[in-house]
Amino acid sequence: MIVTIDGPAGAGKSSIARQVADRLAFDFLDTGAMYRAVTLGCLRAGIDFDDVDALEQFAGCLELRWDDQRIFLNGEDVSEEIRQPEVSAAIGRIADLLPLRTRLSEMQRQVAEGKDIVTEGRDQGAEVFPDAECKVFLTASPQTRARRRQLQLSETGVDLSIDEILDAQNKRDLEDTTRDVGRLRAADDAIVVNTDCLSSDEVLQAVLEIIHGVL
Ligand code: C5P
Repeated sequence: MIVTIDGPAGAGKSSIARQVADRLAFDFLDTGAMYRAVTLGCLRAGIDFDDVDALEQFAGCLELRWDDQRIFLNGEDVSEEIRQPEVSAAIGRIADLLPLRTRLSEMQRQVAEGKDIVTEGRDQGAEVFPDAECKVFLTASPQTRARRRQLQLSETGVDLSIDEILDAQNKRDLEDTTRDVGRLRAADDAIVVNTDCLSSDEVLQAVLEIIHGVL
């Protein structure tokens, strides 16, 4: 069984998707981590992000592996490093690369093959797994998402103003909702959960109920 959980940055997808996978004893796939790892590889190599051909060529040579919830770039575990703000700021160009999207979507289907899995991202329900048994789209207002992000960052010792967070988030929302292929959207048959007024426990319960409804 495939459960897809899509939604915008800061909607709480990752933590909910992980918890859902734990509760159901399903595998878990964080597809954003794949785009992040490629972005990190290109940043490290000093590739010019305005040079689409160079990006495409270099991104195509990077070796990615997803293993036990860790992401490996050319054999190195980069699961923590990919969370850096520089990676988030640069990722839009990488996520726009069509050959890369095709390759990563194929990898995602391979990882999911024959498994019970929760996959999380932007395009999972609408494009990568159109036949998934259960599709959830988690969303929340920009303000709620920014406030949650601010709290998360402050727990790691990073203090940013709401305006700084909103600026970066709006930029990413725009990139994510307007790309030609793989854009952020709810699949027609996805169930949309607005998490504005819900605690994370309530979101978890809501998603589990949706899944149990199709089991
Ligand atoms: O979910 P996360 O914030 O880690 O995703 C980072 C970025 O990766 C997104 O803003 C988007 O540009 C890209 N992405 C994507 N398709 C996915 C997952 C992530 O384009 N399935």
